[in-house]
Amino acid sequence: MSSLADEQTWSADSYDRNARFVSDLGGEILSWLAPAPGMRVLDVGCGDGALTRRIADAGAEVVGIDISDSLLDAARARGLDVRAMSVTDMDFSADFDAVFSNAVLHWVKEPVQAIARMRAALRPEGRLVAEFGGHGNVAAIVTAMRAAARIHGGDPSLAAPWFYPTPDAYGALLDAGGFRVRRIALFPRPTPLPTGLSGWLSTFRGPFFAQFGDRADAVKADVEDLLRSVLCDASGNWTADYVRLRVEAIAV
Ligand code: BEZ
Repeated sequence: MSSLADEQTWSADSYDRNARFVSDLGGEILSWLAPAPGMRVLDVGCGDGALTRRIADAGAEVVGIDISDSLLDAARARGLDVRAMSVTDMDFSADFDAVFSNAVLHWVKEPVQAIARMRAALRPEGRLVAEFGGHGNVAAIVTAMRAAARIHGGDPSLAAPWFYPTPDAYGALLDAGGFRVRRIALFPRPTPLPTGLSGWLSTFRGPFFAQFGDRADAVKADVEDLLRSVLCDASGNWTADYVRLRVEAIAV
């Protein structure tokens, strides 16, 4: 259960500036979805709708859900049907041919409930097609934040609120939740950060730094120093140590 202190907030502006690569790198998982005219798709965690728009442009009928009003407003500005809803609370019933999700399910701390709601949203033989952070994702970044929390007397548990399962662990949850896994893979995907590590930390781990008040910038500088030799090249370009879990599963 989350507390106010670890609550992540989203801003469409900050997302656009620091995290556009998230949807830009969604091409492969979109090809697993293969949206087509006549297909009804639910996009779980649609964000600002960049990929949702591509699903709609392929001719599918798509509904997006997200919990951020700021991101939902940006998605609506793209002309999309999106709703304020969490994956664990949604109550769709056999409404969709496919549930799609990119870079979201690692934020969901109740995976069993999320899988149950996604299964309920699908017609029999419908597909779950998802990509998110898998086991080992951003391990170096998390380790550096934990070290900085120790140095500065902060709470290291705020460094990593994410769920990063192995394929075996997530496959077992899917099996138990009424799915048959068709394909699942875990693979490293080093991810260039166009606005550096600082932009990534601000966009994705604000609550960790907020705990340090007016020392937040100094803590962030320490995190950068700890990681420079492994994640930053000689020209100053940062690359995050992403590991992706990609899965396609059938509702049985
Ligand atoms: C990810 O997509 O792997 C990710 C994004 C933000 C925070 C942590 C992980």
